[in-house]
Amino acid sequence: MADTLTITDNRTGKTYEVDIKDGTIRADALRKIKTSDDDFGLMTYDPAFMNTASCRSAITLIDGDKGILRYRGYAIEDLAEQSSYLEVAFLLLHGELPNEAQLRKWSHEVTHHTFVHEFLRKSMEGFRFDAHPMGKLVSMLGALSTFYPEAKKVRDDKTRREQIVRIIAKMPTLSAWAFRHSVGRPYVYPDNELSYCGNFLNMIFRMAEPRFEPHPVLERALDILFILHADHEQNCSANAARAVGSAETDPYCSLAAASAALYGPLHGGANEAVLHMLKQIGSVSAVPEFIAGVKNGSGRLMGFGHRVYKNYDPRAKVIKKLAHEVFEVTGKNPLLEIALELEKIALSDDYFVKRKLYPNVDFYSGMIYQAMGFPVEMFPVLFAIPRASGWLAQWQEMLQDPEQKIARPRQIYTGADLRPYVPMSNRATKPAT
Ligand code: ACO
Repeated sequence: MADTLTITDNRTGKTYEVDIKDGTIRADALRKIKTSDDDFGLMTYDPAFMNTASCRSAITLIDGDKGILRYRGYAIEDLAEQSSYLEVAFLLLHGELPNEAQLRKWSHEVTHHTFVHEFLRKSMEGFRFDAHPMGKLVSMLGALSTFYPEAKKVRDDKTRREQIVRIIAKMPTLSAWAFRHSVGRPYVYPDNELSYCGNFLNMIFRMAEPRFEPHPVLERALDILFILHADHEQNCSANAARAVGSAETDPYCSLAAASAALYGPLHGGANEAVLHMLKQIGSVSAVPEFIAGVKNGSGRLMGFGHRVYKNYDPRAKVIKKLAHEVFEVTGKNPLLEIALELEKIALSDDYFVKRKLYPNVDFYSGMIYQAMGFPVEMFPVLFAIPRASGWLAQWQEMLQDPEQKIARPRQIYTGADLRPYVPMSNRATKPAT
């Protein structure tokens, strides 16, 4: 049996043989299918990349039907239980878990790049008090690129690695300061004696105490949430990091673009949207009416559904369990009852069952963040911090892939044919709609 596809073009009667590799055909193999010599050749049309692989990747595997997520071959459940976020970041970027010496060096490097230039602190002051922290993070990532002009040397291994360390190290600092600016509290500088997550909590919550002691359960819970959010293969924001990075843009600007993509309510903004939705529902008794509204098209059940998962998102399972551990320390988030009822009703309702809509990573994470004391505006920021390691791994893999070039899709032009220019005096006076 040949691994090929035979295509007959009924316009010409010609037959073509196209190779099949890894369950795909190459879109450019279709270009030889032409009706005449000056025909451009056949293209594929795939809005929103519903059925197009844009790269080969060895980083993350998702089996959406089975609800499987693996980083570099390791099950997400094992990593969440046994690993730390910094180990996972190393794994994503290097392909292997670090040994003891490698982890010590990696943690030391990340810890010693947590400070940011004082000018960045000053530029934070340019934002209004009510600016969304995610908008600030996007801007600060772009601003960071101006401090490291050498970052443009994206093909240089050593330079690339230096920026990777800097970005992973500085994401918590920028994020915490975006929050402190919003609430008018003085910025807290990094404490290099604390863990990655411990230090982040320090920069977020420390007030007058001489030394901030993170609660070990909350510190570990945040670390687990960071592991779960670290990568998710070719999602909207990873695609943005790769697409922008394919122009050889520096990693700070590529990650600013990725963060901007993550900000959208259909992507990383969904956990914020879930909280707003739960608040709007208000009580367990109002859940059936809300579900009926969703089914009638008055809105979506936020935190449900996924482009790839057509089963329970494995991250949501870990987070649901984690929520109970966190609530033991913080007290129960009153929205939990509403969320549990929503999940129960949705999972047994034909509308959701038929469409294979299950809770995704965002359904429960917001409630944990809220119980830990984070305002909802910080939720996408809490997603962006750990996702930085995934974006960087994707960006690096793209740069090292000899098959990749500047990302530049084709289009089907649907506009006007060539027409004569209309002088101003001859144009219609009716305003354009
Ligand atoms: N609530 C109600 N109906 C939904 C939902 C939902 N959350 N999600 C999908 N559907 C319905 C659609 O209306 C559509 O129904 P139809 O076939 O009758 O028209 C069907 O399910 C398929 O939906 P699509 O929009 O085609 O699915 P797509 O893969 O494009 O969308 C997405 C995936 C954007 C995640 C969608 O499920 C959604 O909007 N969910 C809510 C937002 C959310 O939670 N986003 C977070 C995703 S996880 C992440 O990014 C980290």
